Order: sequence, then C-alpha cells, then structure tokens
Amino acid sequence: MHLNFVPILASLFGFASLASAQLQLFCPDALRLGTFAFSPRTVNPGATFTIVANMTCANYLGYTPTYLDYYIEDTANNNGHEYPTLIARRTYNQSADPPLDIFTAVLPSGFWFAGAEYQLYMYNSYARTAPAGDTVILVGAVAESINITGY
Ligand SMILES: *[C@@H]1O[C@H](CO)[C@@H](O)[C@H](O)[C@H]1NC(C)=O
Ligand SMILES: *[C@@H]1O[C@H](CO)[C@@H](O)[C@H](O)[C@H]1NC(C)=O
Ligand SMILES: *[C@@H]1O[C@H](CO)[C@@H](O)[C@H](O)[C@H]1NC(C)=O
Repeated sequence: MHLNFVPILASLFGFASLASAQLQLFCPDALRLGTFAFSPRTVNPGATFTIVANMTCANYLGYTPTYLDYYIEDTANNNGHEYPTLIARRTYNQSADPPLDIFTAVLPSGFWFAGAEYQLYMYNSYARTAPAGDTVILVGAVAESINITGY
C-alpha cells in the first residue's frame, strides 16, 4: 500500500512529466557531434574565453568523443597560407555527468589577418569498430563564428 503513494505524489508534483521529458531528448542528426558555446564571442590575442562543450546528443546518438580538439580557421578571404590554429586539445571524460566539458582557453597572438572571417571548429574524434574488428578513431567537426580583434 505504501508504494502506491509514490506515483500519486509524482503526478501531483509533476515529476512524472519531468521524467518523460528527459527521456524524450530532442537530438536531431545535426547534433550528433555535440554542440558548443563560448563566451565572449569577440576576443583579443592574449585574452581568455570560456568554452562549454555539450555532448548530450553526441552520447545519445553514439558519437561519444575520445578527444575534442578546437581550431580557429579562416573560412573567408583566406589567402591560402592561413592554416587552422590549434586552440585546445581535450581528452573527453566519458563519465562526465552532465556530459559537459567546460574550460578556459587563451587566444594566442597568432597569424590573424584583416578581412578574414574566423570560425572556431570543434573536432569530435570518436571510436568505431571497423569491419575486421579493429577500433578506429573517426572525426567530424562543427563550427561557430568567432570575432578576433585587436591584432
Ligand atoms: C563580430 O563583431 C561584429 C561587429 O562588432 C558584430 O556585428 C558581430 O555580431 C560579431 N560576431 C560575433 C560572432 O559575435
Ligand atoms: C545540452 O544539450 C541538451 C540537448 O540539446 C540540452 O537539453 C541541455 O540543456 C544542454 N545543456 C547545456 C548546459 O547547455
Ligand atoms: C570524470 O567524471 C566523473 C564523473 O563526474 C568524475 O568522477 C571523474 O573524476 C572525472 N574524471 C576526470 C579525469 O576528470
């Protein structure tokens, strides 16, 4: 009899609907590599910015990272010698709960050029079992625009 109170209390306080909302995670395929946000969005060389990587959907869709690497790339008005610049290399904690990786990065005084349009790329390197049984690491990336000023 005592146990019957649990679902009644749960529905009274809305816990049941909260639980089902968490089960019905909205993870479209476009979020399979994870998402990230950072702040501030406009950064001077030498300044710090905070990156929050969110692997909720990556985990859910089977793309749990082994590594997360961040590069700044010049995707417009690139003169051909403007190579991706490594910002951070992270070994992902696959036990992290919630599945977030939060850290501070420093923008180096790098090869920044007027007129360029920079994107911060997050490369998710995730493991797969190949047909012959070997575990291999594949990679995919998502990007967000970043403003680099003051150089
Ligand atoms: C970059 O700076 C410009 C000018 O201040 C602004 O319009 C734009 O929204 C900024 N972009 C980002 C990604 O913050
Ligand atoms: C992480 O992503 C999930 C799925 O999109 C979302 O429900 C959750 O609010 C996000 N967490 C943070 C801290 O942004
Ligand atoms: C990984 O996350 C788990 C769960 O939060 C934590 O207990 C553990 O210390 C973390 N490992 C590292 C290396 O940070």
